[in-house]
Amino acid sequence: MKTEGCPIVSVENLYVTFGEFHAVKDVSFSVTQGEIFGFLGANGAGKTTTIRVLCGLLPASQGKVEIDGIQFTEGMENVIKSKVGYMSQKFTLYDDLSIDENLQFAAALREIDKKFFENRKSELLQFIGFDSNTSQIVAGLPGGIKQEIALIASLLHDPKIIFLDEPTAGVSSVSRDRFWSLIKRLAKIGKTIFVTTHYMDEAENCHRIALMRSGELIALDTPTNLKKNTYKQNMYSVTPNDGDARKYFVNHSKEFFAMFAPYGLHYHVIISKKLDEEKTIKNLQQYGTIKKILPSLEDVFIKLVEGDR
Ligand SMILES: Nc1ncnc2c1ncn2[C@@H]1O[C@H](COP(=O)(O)OP(=O)(O)OP(=O)(O)O)[C@@H](O)[C@H]1O
Ligand SMILES: [Mg+2]
Repeated sequence: MKTEGCPIVSVENLYVTFGEFHAVKDVSFSVTQGEIFGFLGANGAGKTTTIRVLCGLLPASQGKVEIDGIQFTEGMENVIKSKVGYMSQKFTLYDDLSIDENLQFAAALREIDKKFFENRKSELLQFIGFDSNTSQIVAGLPGGIKQEIALIASLLHDPKIIFLDEPTAGVSSVSRDRFWSLIKRLAKIGKTIFVTTHYMDEAENCHRIALMRSGELIALDTPTNLKKNTYKQNMYSVTPNDGDARKYFVNHSKEFFAMFAPYGLHYHVIISKKLDEEKTIKNLQQYGTIKKILPSLEDVFIKLVEGDR
């Protein structure tokens, strides 16, 4: 249920400064209702800082922020907080409390009405397909289930927008897939998802991706457009025929390629500008299979974050 042209988050020229240090510099973007908005960037890029501002936990040093049409001004903190849910990898649940106690505690912090809470709790447990005992202590649960319980704890007050800061860090790939199917279902019912991740396969699931570098927003587009537009030259996937061919590619990488990046068993390459691309490909085909490809999001991320270094 992506509603075009209906911004639920709007950020204009946001700055966040800690003393002399600018953690977020002149960042502007908006997010539409029902969108899965990916917020990427290397460590320290300013992702969590931006999220803290959008959740009303940290004041902006400069700039205009609106959530669901409400501008961040003094006295509006509680209205804003009622509209947002927040889940982070670092602080999720209390290990020594039961599932029930954790959910009750989260509800108490939000001052949620008891009857509303009971209904909402069953609805959300059903949503994640959890049908075991909720008096279990959280410490004993598998990482993936903990994250799902933490997710529903952030949804108890039925927020319109959910901020997920590295929600799947450290959980298994099966659990990450399950978690993302929940995210997609939430977006389908109109929730807006603002998510940070360091996993590029997860970023593929986002409707749009914003890329931060040293506090600045350096790209914002759909995954497909980012792949199509980031590199000017053609990219190829190279799969060497055997071990000797692999050595050949590695030893001659500087001679043939402007970019030569290992990618699983393959290499992603760009032919050096000094060479005739067609002839070079033809020549190299004796050593391996070479296919023209769209860059991966990982390639895009490396190029945008590291430039041509
Ligand atoms: N309260 C604070 N006081 C001073 N500096 C801070 C504070 N909070 C964050 N920073 C700094 O701001 C920068 C951005 O940090 P932030 O946590 O937003 O990065 P991030 O993109 O979330 O990184 P990561 O991927 O590691 O979570 C970092 O250099 C960090 O050290
Ligand atoms: Mg962070």
